[in-house]
Amino acid sequence: MCGIVGYIGNQNATTIVLTGLKKLEYRGYDSAGLAVITNGHIEVRRDAGKLANLELLVQNQPIVGKIGIGHTRWATHGEPSARNAHPHLSTTGEVVVVHNGIVENFIELKEELVQKGIEFQSDTDTETIVHLIDLYMKLGQNLETAVRTTLSRLKGAHGVVVMSTLEKDKIIAARIGNAGGVVLGLGEDENFIASDIPAILEHTRKLVFLESRQMAVVTREGIEISTIEGKKVSPQISSVAWDPVSAEKGEYRHFMQKEIHEQVRALTDTLAGRVDFEEGSIRLPQLNLTAEKAKKIEKIVITACGTASNAGMVGKLLIERIARIPTTCEIASEFRYSDPLVDENTVVLSISQSGETADTLAAMEEARKHGSTTWSIVNAIGSQAMRISDGFISMQTGPEIGVASTKAFTAPLVDLYMLAVLLADLRGTITAKERKALVDDLRLIPELVGECLDREAEVEEVAHYLKEARDMLYLGRGINMPIAYEGALKMKEISYMHAEAYPAGEMKHGPIALVDKEMPVLAICTKDPWYEKMISQIEQAKARGGIVIAVATIGDERVASLVDRVLRVPDAPWMLSPVVTVIPLQILAYHIARLRGLDVDQPRNLAKSVTVE
Ligand code: AGP
Repeated sequence: MCGIVGYIGNQNATTIVLTGLKKLEYRGYDSAGLAVITNGHIEVRRDAGKLANLELLVQNQPIVGKIGIGHTRWATHGEPSARNAHPHLSTTGEVVVVHNGIVENFIELKEELVQKGIEFQSDTDTETIVHLIDLYMKLGQNLETAVRTTLSRLKGAHGVVVMSTLEKDKIIAARIGNAGGVVLGLGEDENFIASDIPAILEHTRKLVFLESRQMAVVTREGIEISTIEGKKVSPQISSVAWDPVSAEKGEYRHFMQKEIHEQVRALTDTLAGRVDFEEGSIRLPQLNLTAEKAKKIEKIVITACGTASNAGMVGKLLIERIARIPTTCEIASEFRYSDPLVDENTVVLSISQSGETADTLAAMEEARKHGSTTWSIVNAIGSQAMRISDGFISMQTGPEIGVASTKAFTAPLVDLYMLAVLLADLRGTITAKERKALVDDLRLIPELVGECLDREAEVEEVAHYLKEARDMLYLGRGINMPIAYEGALKMKEISYMHAEAYPAGEMKHGPIALVDKEMPVLAICTKDPWYEKMISQIEQAKARGGIVIAVATIGDERVASLVDRVLRVPDAPWMLSPVVTVIPLQILAYHIARLRGLDVDQPRNLAKSVTVE
């Protein structure tokens, strides 16, 4: 996961930036680099692989300077290599940039810049940023204005840090959306910038967090914050306790809230290095999958527990729809004792955040006994599930601390979608054009999740409305049916509210008898192929005096006119819509638990990793 560090002061920037980057190593990266202004010009050192490679470069060709920026990169556009590593320099060598996020309109911007005669040195989307800033400075704008103008042209979510030899007494840092945070650390005659607090915590505990669409001009003497549009903002200084746990929580009240907000970044990292948007292709090398192996698969069984199995239910639908391979999703604790009908032509795919869940591991063991291929989608690197699988996809979410799983739910949804596209491609069940269209839809996902997060206040209002409820019914159909299960699970585990989920079509077979004013019904009714069916469920619940809260597409006045409260989400391609519709349900459960004064991160009776049967 990409990391940023910046420094301006009287110490050697190279040392501070390198030590900061080391503090972010645990997040994972595939290349690293730094840039320091020395003797009036910018020196860059960067390399693929671990920070040790960069350290060696710096040892062999030292740079001493008092202002510098650095970056650890997870590849998105372009392979992990020295030339694609950040920082990226302008052609003049006068501007340098590090960046987290994806420039969604990178192809258009690159074409425009190439037409102006600019030669790109890397395959990255980030390089467009540095050339644009350089271009606007050549047109007479100062660094700050050139950064503003450039940011206003970028689509997507970004954390950007910039230096220039033309104004070598400052660093500019900016944040748009949720491609990770940007935090400023205040010192005496020195100031720091980072994507994450641990990178600068040893130097200062006085921190200022940039909100979305804010930028900072950071000098040795202080910081000035404004919106991207240029309106001054007075900095809110937070004091962070020295212990690493509170430091990690940063600006959030609970880990769960932090992890909900980390989803844009986690999803950006999930796509990084796996999706080639230009070619419209998917790479999942750790699955060790070839066309020959893919064609032999007769059946896929997804097995997991809890939240992971809810992700698996979405995966079943995606794999069947896109790759046309018969797929089931089995609760691991049942599957392990079911004498399953699996064989050497079956792939048993486990999903696990911890990779240590006893039932999931036993299910994998059972699959091995039957000669099946085992794959896993796992978050904890080096965990048992990862080690014993024939192939794996590692979730790129970083550590998840809150017991209630959030980012380790949305990341596997995207992993499963990518897997379905890859399988379909290798088996020849989709055309190149269809594959490109499916891959293209992924580009939107981090941004759409960011839009949901920006609506937290709207969900909080609904949390106030529902906080006294004793029971709730969650309804969904098709691809969003598992999201009803996931929403209800989140509500149960942290709010201790009785919440039951049903495929909405089942209501008439029994559960509708429960509907009255005391049983709020939450219906997921976005513009997917099951939309009309969900509308009719909502009407039936309303006809029986029920209170209905709908997750609906922004601008859908038809649903809004039928229900009591709406949780609005942006329109998303329907096969990826679960990644979006689950966000307000996570936020709703979080705020109800918080309003009830409960221990959100460590709910009663639950453990993060269930290593016993
Ligand atoms: C999710 O919020 C729960 N904490 C729980 O259902 C969890 O998903 C389940 O125990 C599986 O854990 P795993 O992903 O680590 O295997």
